[in-house]
Amino acid sequence: MEDCLSMKKSLSIFMMLLIYMGGRGAQGVCVKDERTALLEIKASLHEYFPDVDNLLSSWVDHGSTSGECCEWERIKCDKVTGHVTDLSLSNLLSEDYESFYDRTWPLDFSPFIHFKELRNLDVSWNYIDDTFVGKGVERLSSLKKLETLNLSNNRIETNIFPSLASLVSLKILDLSNMKGYESYDPSSTAHGMLFVFSFS
Ligand SMILES: *[C@@H]1O[C@H](CO)[C@@H](O)[C@H](O)[C@H]1NC(C)=O
Repeated sequence: MEDCLSMKKSLSIFMMLLIYMGGRGAQGVCVKDERTALLEIKASLHEYFPDVDNLLSSWVDHGSTSGECCEWERIKCDKVTGHVTDLSLSNLLSEDYESFYDRTWPLDFSPFIHFKELRNLDVSWNYIDDTFVGKGVERLSSLKKLETLNLSNNRIETNIFPSLASLVSLKILDLSNMKGYESYDPSSTAHGMLFVFSFS
């Protein structure tokens, strides 16, 4: 009887393992252009913050044919098409305001145009400055499926509404605490204004 029980137990553990692995496999393949774009984003981050360890450490190029990028951290892909649907790139540098308050990430948004199926993009808390408005943010208009864009807690000061007008599917836009570095100052009571827009 006991034998039978423990066999049942190990069988169910085995089944759970199978289901788990099956689920992971389904995330598997990703699209080559999108993979290249992800590596470009990582390279840019490393260029401006070379002293920060473990930045997107799972985003590793294992050669041209491998399609493993759907299993990288902070990414979700469509299980059928393999296109990236979610990029959660919030707070990539960790909340170390003291050491970063005078630094910015002049993010070039052009790699993002490759994510044709992208639904949710969160780049909050990343020391992104106005550069990105000048360097191709209008090209985000190719993100026809983008529903949520979180730009909050960055250092963008120019008006970005004209650039975002062509995001036809956008439902939620978070522009709160835009000049984010104001809030790092513990003596400051100004935590920026809250702007969350909902278009649905
Ligand atoms: C945007 O990001 C901030 C900081 O990571 C988070 O607190 C906020 O809830 C996000 N906004 C939305 C609309 O999800």
